[in-house]
Amino acid sequence: MSKNKIIDALNAARKEELTSILQYLQHHYLAKGLESPPVADLLKEFSITEMKHAYALAERIVALGGKPETKTDPLKIPGKLTEMIKVNLDLEKRAIASYKEWIKLASNDSTTRLLLEGILADEEEIATKLSSLLEK
Ligand SMILES: [Fe+2]
Repeated sequence: MSKNKIIDALNAARKEELTSILQYLQHHYLAKGLESPPVADLLKEFSITEMKHAYALAERIVALGGKPETKTDPLKIPGKLTEMIKVNLDLEKRAIASYKEWIKLASNDSTTRLLLEGILADEEEIATKLSSLLEK
């Protein structure tokens, strides 16, 4: 796999992360307004985790000689807490599927692959927490 393809994959990942950061943070503030403090705290925690991912991806992109992406996808901001959890769970499911593909792409680049595997583990943990919130 060429270095440019790896950089493109890392930038696609970064776009997802930047979208997640903003979406979780906005949901955090809205959930506070809905007086759901435990969920609001969790959403802020997720946003911070995504920031760490966006940062780590940018560091790797720069190390490979690329330029980090700054764009995001459109945010989904529903008014109800259950809907917020659902749109975030969808986002995480898409991210998990994408990370699995990107990990395959990076099979010959151990540093990138290990980075992506670490992020994937975090996304799976967030998805599990979101799923259990929906069950409540
Ligand atoms: Fe992430």
